[in-house]
Amino acid sequence: MGRMLSDEAVAGYHRDGFYFPVPVLTGEEAAGYRRHLESHEAKTGHPLQGNWRHKAHLLFTWVDELVHHPKILDAVEDLIGPDILCWTTNFFIKEASNPGFVSWHQDATYWGLEPDDVVTAWVALTDATPENGYMQFLHGSHKTEQLPHVDTFHKDNLLSRGQEIAVEVDKSKGVGIALKAGEMSLHHIKLVHGSEPNRTSDRRIGLAIRYIPTYVRQTKVRDAATLVRGTDKFHNFDYEPRPAADLDEAALKAHADSVARQVKALYAGTEKQEFRA
Ligand code: NI
Repeated sequence: MGRMLSDEAVAGYHRDGFYFPVPVLTGEEAAGYRRHLESHEAKTGHPLQGNWRHKAHLLFTWVDELVHHPKILDAVEDLIGPDILCWTTNFFIKEASNPGFVSWHQDATYWGLEPDDVVTAWVALTDATPENGYMQFLHGSHKTEQLPHVDTFHKDNLLSRGQEIAVEVDKSKGVGIALKAGEMSLHHIKLVHGSEPNRTSDRRIGLAIRYIPTYVRQTKVRDAATLVRGTDKFHNFDYEPRPAADLDEAALKAHADSVARQVKALYAGTEKQEFRA
């Protein structure tokens, strides 16, 4: 038995490339985080967009609280050990009755991280269902080599480059990842996954938190990350400061600096200067 996951769960993650569901928040706590997001959106008059969907834990204290959540970190520690950096976070928000989708892809394609001991904790802030476009995982696909991807920059694709796998994917092997608000799934950086549009009348909100052990390296740029647990004897990343207050001057500066580095890595070879809206 690990800190949070059973031995079977840990073995299942290594065999299948994913494990779910892991309960980390109560339904009420998940609803509370959704209210934080939506009260910010009410102030700006539009959904969280562009660069602010990424590394939002540097902007908002309530996202910072989530990336440091002891239950999430206990489960992640069971998979990658006790010395943990949060490399990034990405909000995956699918608006009600919206064509937004995620093509089949491997996260590893543009991230520049080596070796591939990278785990995503995908925390559901609303239920994730077949109707609202839950994620689908291809069982055991993290053991295949890196597959070739093509950039589509399709307007409805929620990925940075609209990247998709260039070869046929057998979708019938997809496993649907149904989660209740407050549960999370865990998946490996090379796992093939995708998701369909939200056909319901409510939004679907998930926060993908990308965790790495401190020995992982970024091969594309001098990158930054947040030390969330344990010690770091490798210093492969510059440290990010935690926000003292939502959107204060220091938080905005740290976020801008850190996102600029990540855009440089993820959009290498293109003209992009910021994340797509
Ligand atoms: Ni992905």
